[in-house]
Amino acid sequence: MTFFEIIGFIVIFYYIVQVILWIILDCDIMLYYKTQFGKPINTLKDKVVWITGASSGIGRELAKQLSKNGVRVVLSGRNIQELEAAKLECMNISKGQLKSNDILVLPFDMLNLDFHRGAFNRVISHFGSFHILVNNAGRSQRAEWNKIDINVDRELFELDVFSVINLSRIAVTYFDKYNIDGQLAITSSTAGLFGAPNSASYTGAKHSLHGYFEALRTEKNNINVNLYCPGPTFSNFLQESFIETQGAKYNQRVSGTDRRMTTERCAYLYAVALANNIHLSWSGIFPINLILYVGLYYPNIKKLLMTMGVTRLLGKVRDSR
Ligand SMILES: NC(=O)c1ccc[n+]([C@@H]2O[C@H](COP(=O)([O-])OP(=O)(O)OC[C@H]3O[C@@H](n4cnc5c(N)ncnc54)[C@H](OP(=O)(O)O)[C@@H]3O)[C@@H](O)[C@H]2O)c1
Repeated sequence: MTFFEIIGFIVIFYYIVQVILWIILDCDIMLYYKTQFGKPINTLKDKVVWITGASSGIGRELAKQLSKNGVRVVLSGRNIQELEAAKLECMNISKGQLKSNDILVLPFDMLNLDFHRGAFNRVISHFGSFHILVNNAGRSQRAEWNKIDINVDRELFELDVFSVINLSRIAVTYFDKYNIDGQLAITSSTAGLFGAPNSASYTGAKHSLHGYFEALRTEKNNINVNLYCPGPTFSNFLQESFIETQGAKYNQRVSGTDRRMTTERCAYLYAVALANNIHLSWSGIFPINLILYVGLYYPNIKKLLMTMGVTRLLGKVRDSR
């Protein structure tokens, strides 16, 4: 074999391995690597992690994953009963590592920006400090692009973007003041990396979060930003999703037969991303990984596939069929 044949062989081998990994893994390659060889979740044990949207779905499961590893948590959301139930689950799963005082239930509406400072003060007065803010509360969307009322765009951005930015600014100001190497996590979505059909405002909102937090990264070295982008995952989100009309909800349930990642797996991968301080990571069962790698790293192939009618397939993946 000549030198150039060997190089050619290595390149082809590299691409074959990559494509196989994109097909078989349920998350990006770095995140998967960290699940096997990275820092375990219990390295977060001494930290206080504040999770918004902890009353259900991904946020609630993340709280459990962290509690299982002895991490102290603040659980926020609007539904007090569900937050109390989540606290109980966290206590049980921690198997005695956490006392009642180690889990703070802090209910508030993210849309009430005036309350954010008070909520923050409550966390500090309870724990003395905190280390990671997980911006997870949010609502998705199902609506045709041209039919969306502009007020829905505004409402969705209020919750999924502006409330997140407002709370994060309070946290960053605190980290700055006390010279703390703070960590901000953001539950983005695969829609934050790749346009999702029938979710224009949501796609715009999640992309916008990437912009805000990329800018933060360039300004402040003491702040670690973890953008985590789940693909379709079991949760209550279909009930709560915005549609095209202001004030209305999609009001549908996910079905047990949907092709979605389990909430447990999604939250476990999220916890690994936090423990390993991963800048950008994603999760999702086949073909999410494949779509994202091609979409992000091979835009010309993406363009070609779109012209070949792959958009219909995207719709099916989006609806988890
Ligand atoms: N499930 C998926 O397929 C998927 C995929 C990609 C990204 N995500 C993202 O994951 C995050 C969590 O969603 P999920 O799927 O776990 O849905 P979920 O089960 O509906 O959970 C949403 C959470 O957000 C909270 N929330 C909603 N509006 C709020 C408000 N105004 N103030 C305070 N909290 C509020 C809810 O709490 P209360 O009702 O108690 O207020 C709830 O705890 C979202 O940011 C979503 O965009 C989900």
